[in-house]
Amino acid sequence: MRYGHFDDVRREYVITRPDTPLPWINYLGSEDYFGIISNTAGGYSFYRDARLRRLTRYRYNNAPLDLGGRYVYLRDDASGDYWSPSWQPTQRDLDDYTCRHGLGYSIISSRYQGIRAETLYFVPAGETLEVWRVRVTNERAVPATLSLFSSVEFCLWDAQDDATNFQRNYSVGEVEVEDGVIYHKTEYRERRNHFAFFACSEPLAGFDTQRDAFLGPYRSWDRPIGVERGFASNSIAHGWQPSGSHHVRLELRPGETREIVFLLGYAENPADAKFDPPGSQTIDKRRVRPTIARYLQPDVVADAFEALQSRWTDLLGICRAETGNEHVDRMVNIWNPYQCMVTFNMSRSASLFESGIGRGMGFRDTSQDLLGFVHLVPARARERLLDVASTQLPTGGAYHQYQPLTKRGNNDVGSGFNDDPAWLVVSVAAYLKETGDSSILDEALPFDNQPGTERPLYEHLQRSIQYTLDRLGPHGLPLIGRADWNDCLNLNCFSETPGESFQTTENRSGGVAESVFIAALFVLAAGELAAIAGLRGDAAEAARSLAAASEMRRAVDQHGWDGAWFRRAYDFFGRPVGSAENDEGQIFIEPQGMCVLAGIGIDDGRARTALDSVRERLATPHGIVLLQPAFTRYHLHLGEISTYPGGYKENAGVFCHTNPWVMIGETRVRNGDAALDYYLRINPSAREDLSETHRGEPYVYAQMIAGADAATPGEAKNTWLTGTAAWNFVAISQWILGIRPEHDGLRIDPCVPVAWGDFTATRRFRGATYRIAVRKRPGTSGCVTRLRVDGRTIEGNLVPLPSSTEAVIEVEAFVDAPVEDVVEATP
Ligand code: BGC
Ligand code: NOJ
Repeated sequence: MRYGHFDDVRREYVITRPDTPLPWINYLGSEDYFGIISNTAGGYSFYRDARLRRLTRYRYNNAPLDLGGRYVYLRDDASGDYWSPSWQPTQRDLDDYTCRHGLGYSIISSRYQGIRAETLYFVPAGETLEVWRVRVTNERAVPATLSLFSSVEFCLWDAQDDATNFQRNYSVGEVEVEDGVIYHKTEYRERRNHFAFFACSEPLAGFDTQRDAFLGPYRSWDRPIGVERGFASNSIAHGWQPSGSHHVRLELRPGETREIVFLLGYAENPADAKFDPPGSQTIDKRRVRPTIARYLQPDVVADAFEALQSRWTDLLGICRAETGNEHVDRMVNIWNPYQCMVTFNMSRSASLFESGIGRGMGFRDTSQDLLGFVHLVPARARERLLDVASTQLPTGGAYHQYQPLTKRGNNDVGSGFNDDPAWLVVSVAAYLKETGDSSILDEALPFDNQPGTERPLYEHLQRSIQYTLDRLGPHGLPLIGRADWNDCLNLNCFSETPGESFQTTENRSGGVAESVFIAALFVLAAGELAAIAGLRGDAAEAARSLAAASEMRRAVDQHGWDGAWFRRAYDFFGRPVGSAENDEGQIFIEPQGMCVLAGIGIDDGRARTALDSVRERLATPHGIVLLQPAFTRYHLHLGEISTYPGGYKENAGVFCHTNPWVMIGETRVRNGDAALDYYLRINPSAREDLSETHRGEPYVYAQMIAGADAATPGEAKNTWLTGTAAWNFVAISQWILGIRPEHDGLRIDPCVPVAWGDFTATRRFRGATYRIAVRKRPGTSGCVTRLRVDGRTIEGNLVPLPSSTEAVIEVEAFVDAPVEDVVEATP
């Protein structure tokens, strides 16, 4: 069953009933001001940091789940009947409810008793405010007398403190109301120089700024007293819960539409110019007034909305495909890049599953998010890389997280996740391949942000590689540290105390726990560094990295192979993990995917065998589960992974981030059918018909889909903020469709199902636009060994870098070489 449908032309998902299995959310904003918004207008807003600069309140884990939002109410002043056009919070039976989630905006519309209301929510580019444009139409045959109320509940900035420190916070709230604009200025009197504003384009019949005055004592958002009785009380908040509500009266003739604009925004004043007049306690509003005045004009709003849409048209034009498979095309051309942008912006901070007060920016998460984002806005990717690398430790190791506002490493979590540094090499390599901007390697960046320690980024990468080499275990495999990619495989933890963090506790030392996964990632990263060194003419480093990669390959060959698949690790005591010897957790997905992706076992058939084991033991209709058999009890020596009930999260859930590694692995052994098959199993659009089971949004990837061992197989959790977005984009665009940026050109190396015929794609790359036509006869398989580029035939499958004069380059790629001839030859 579905709860809506895709509108690919408008690039929207159209939800047609409000009671989706879970709130289905979207994101507003893409620079400094952000918000999440659900299909019933729930959600909250923040400036840059979801913890430290939260504008509005949201109550996580509530009943209903989604409480707190950007609610408007309509009231029929003749009958006294009132409703929320977004269904929540009043939950009246609406006619024609739709929520159109688009790229950076949402439009919620409905009809009730002959009154249509449509609200567009979005953040204009370059601004730190959000627009709510409400259009109300009288579809009755008689005039209508209506009241419109807006509402928000302000957060007292620090979302963590706001949710806990009531003894203080119930006394500090302050607001101002001037010319119908509500200003929230808690703590502005002292150290803050920022405030929020909530404005309305219409003359007001009244307003409220004290929550209890608007809702009425003992009432909630579903029946505010102000709305029920039809007038506001012009309350001014002193402490308690500052909120904002405007009351506008509307007289509508039959057929008449009125447009009302509300603005919610964030503004800062210079620390020495906060008050007007100086010496008073009144906010100096001279800087913000013009912005407010501008965006209260409908034509400015319309232009800003159009600009947002053209921005996305431009971004989505960078990489497009027309394959004839609607799930591929829709995800590649619209939703997957959109999700990549959101994960890049948010990291793991704010979603329905991330409270905004939890984690900072993960070192590995950020590095991987970049893989799916770098082609969209390379300049921002560059900036992010410099931020991340500046938190690196002198050892080459990494703080596991850093804080977005300070850009400093987070001491609470610390370091010791031994995969972290290798990801930096992989992401810098991706940046270089996309842009060719080798100047980034010479950027002098500090270690641990310490002035005076600056070294070129190139040396940071060298230290990343050296970090692993300095930490090898008895089998010559990398020591795992606190965890590798799998945060829950905690082999040095041994926690017996409830509440101890599995990620930061190490109760035993002196162990020899090693990770086959890091070994494979190292082979990949060292190969990337060798290529980068080659480009710089540093032959010594290139040779050193290649030798280190081969040595690591040998260690994996000797100690990482279990007979029919790659082992996962060696535990504290040196015993294998992810081996047929174990009674639970015999096979894990991560080393199968990452080893083959890194090219290990391709020449000797082990890659194929490992992938066959994945198919036999791990593949389910809902995706490939992380391990089998699931852990049925807590294993002290394995850590958090065995805390989850079987089938959920890292304990045998379909942890979607890992699936694309296997897809890429399948393309490395030239099995396009398997690669696409796995791709479609977790593709959100392809799962749309299963919405009742899947429960998450059908337009974005989830971190996890419950596995076969779960009570609810197929149920998705933790949608939106996951490395799944970036890796699936890499798998489908670069490996399955095979359009892959490389240092010296654009590789056209599709590995698609046998049944596929021709397909076309467009890729903007290094300043040129490539129009690519892949020529393939249905029923055949093979590789591209010959290209026609602007009419000239080129042997091989690499389109050389464009000369500066070429704007549009026509490429024909012929899939005709039998697979057997090329498998051995693939890099
Ligand atoms: C989750 C992991 C996550 C970790 C972060 C664990 O509880 O299962 O997916 O990476 O927390 O701290
Ligand atoms: C989510 C974390 O953000 C990521 O860093 C980790 O790799 C996965 N969970 C797997 O544990």
